[in-house]
Order: sequence, then C-alpha cells, then structure tokens
Amino acid sequence: MVMKTAHLVGDSPTIRRTWKLILQVAQTDVRVLVTGESGTGKEVVARLIHCNSLRASRPFVAINCAALTEGVVESELFGHERGAFTGALFARPGCFEQAHTGTLLLDEVTEIRPHIQAKLLRVLQESRVRRVGGSTDREVDTRVIAASNRNAKLAVSSDILREDLYYRLRVVEIELPPLRERKEDIPALVVHFLSVFARTVRPNLHHIGPAALELMTAYDWPGNVRELENVIMRAVVLASPDDSELLPHHLPPELTGDEAPELEMVPLESNLDLTAAMRRLRKFYAAEALRRTHGSKVEAARLLGISRRALYDIL
Ligand SMILES: Nc1ncnc2c1ncn2[C@@H]1O[C@H](COP(=O)(O)OP(=O)(O)OP(=O)(O)O)[C@@H](O)[C@H]1O
Ligand SMILES: [Mg+2]
Repeated sequence: MVMKTAHLVGDSPTIRRTWKLILQVAQTDVRVLVTGESGTGKEVVARLIHCNSLRASRPFVAINCAALTEGVVESELFGHERGAFTGALFARPGCFEQAHTGTLLLDEVTEIRPHIQAKLLRVLQESRVRRVGGSTDREVDTRVIAASNRNAKLAVSSDILREDLYYRLRVVEIELPPLRERKEDIPALVVHFLSVFARTVRPNLHHIGPAALELMTAYDWPGNVRELENVIMRAVVLASPDDSELLPHHLPPELTGDEAPELEMVPLESNLDLTAAMRRLRKFYAAEALRRTHGSKVEAARLLGISRRALYDIL
C-alpha cells in the first residue's frame, strides 16, 4: 500500500491538542478510535499515528467497512482459504494479515454487521485470525485504529455497535470537531491547499483576498476540510494566470450565495446507445448528489435512493 504523506494543518487549540494526543498514542500500540463528521481528517490522524510510531516503516492498511457488501467483509478482514466459497480460486490474506507488524485502519467501523463484530472482537482479544474456510488460526501483530463518522456511543446505545467491541476499540478516543467549530484553522488550510494545488499551475496564486476569506469564514462547511479542499482546487482551476489572490468569483455558489446551475439533460447520442447514456446519467446524478451532500457518500446514496454499494459502483 502506498503511503500518502499526511499533514494536520491548523493551529486552533483543537489541532494542537490533537497533535499532542497523536504523538502520545504513537509511542505505544494502544487502540485509538477517531471520531468526527465526514471530511474532518480522521484518516489523516490515523496515518499520522502510524507514521510517528515504531511501525512507521511497516504496512499501513485502510479498509472502509461501509463500502463492502456483507458477503465480502469477512474475507476482506480475515482472508480466505482456497475453495472457501464459489470463486475463491486462490487463498488470500485479509487486512489483519496484510497489516501484520503494521497498522490497520478500520474505517466506518460501526457499519460492520453484528455477527462479524463478534468475530472481530475475538481477533482483537486473541491477536489471532482464522481465514474463512480455514481450520487453523494465524497469529497477527496488527495495531488497530478505528474511525467512525457516527457518534460511536450512540451506535452502542442503539444496538448498532457491540458495547464490548466499542470498549476494545476505544481505549483512547480522538474526537475531531467540525470545521465550523474551529474556523481559525481556515486561513492556514487555504494557504496549505493553495501550496498543494496552485504551485505548478498558478504559481502566482499563494494567498487569499480579504473578501474571499470573509465568505469562507461565514460559511458553515458541512463537508468540513474535504469540502474546503475541493473549493480551493476549483478556485485554482477558475483563477486566471494573472490573479495573485483568491477572489470571491473563484468561489462556488454555496459560498457566494449565487444560484446553483440547473441539471442539464443528457444530450441525444447519434447512435442511441442507451447503456452509455444511462452510465453518463448515473455519473451525472451521483456527482450532483455528492455536491449537494458535500461529499458524504452515505447521504448522497440516500438522496439518490440507491445503496451505498451501488453508489461506489457508479463512482
Ligand atoms: N487538518 C488537516 N490538514 C490538512 N488536510 C486535512 C486536514 N483535515 C483533513 N484534511 C484533508 O481533507 C480530506 C479529508 O480528510 P480525511 O479523509 O482524513 O477525512 P475523514 O474524516 O476520514 O472523512 P470520511 O469520514 O469522509 O472518511 C483529505 O484530503 C485530507 O488530506
Ligand atoms: Mg475517512
């Protein structure tokens, strides 16, 4: 797995406290639960814990439990032996084995079905996994970090997450507040993303004008840092080569209060290839749903009236 470099930008008290916690928990293998709304930086935190730990040179594996169908989640987590089920032509190690000696991020952990949660609990207790269709256990030394954008405690009280599993995963909890509660991080994040996106295409553009900053500060950021990242990426594309600062007209309608463009009809293809047209329409709708939900796949799927799995397939 390719290691993405991670940065936790910002100097709000929250970010400073989070850095301190990251460095503290990185010293040991203590299990950490990272919680926060979508796009608040949970994966960034997980990667930073790994990178600052003694396991830094070992694998970091991330698995998104919400993106897996019930049928495959078990073999993805624990692996399977050859012939374990129809189509299992080869034996395959699961995430726990892949992350052996390293770190495993269980993303959206509350989405795991209860009977798999029971198996997961046993793996955490015994540090041994049994592949699907296997008859022996394998020892694994895998540090587990879990993440959730639901309130995990609430998931416990509504019987979505097993309480015993919750306490196993949440030895330490790192809570990332939404961006609207730490707006003092916005200027540093803007400068950071400008340096990432503008450096090669718009090298003159390295700061934000006061009017644009005011709009960004007034905005609620339901999609959190991920949304801000997208806004800056879009602004860099829209800025002209001689713009030296980010201006209000580089910002999307959500921030400026202008009307959003209407959905366009899919133009008729000359060959009337209905499959291709449907594919385009699906992509178009999925993109629009993601825009309206500020990148939340869970909510976008709900808006489209399809399963999350189906949305992932379209994307
Ligand atoms: N403090 C930060 N500094 C720099 N980049 C950040 C920060 N927080 C988040 N990001 C960036 O924002 C994007 C979203 O972050 P991340 O994937 O960690 O969010 P998440 O909480 O895991 O979201 P989700 O719940 O949707 O999976 C990433 O591109 C990440 O690099
Ligand atoms: Mg994530």
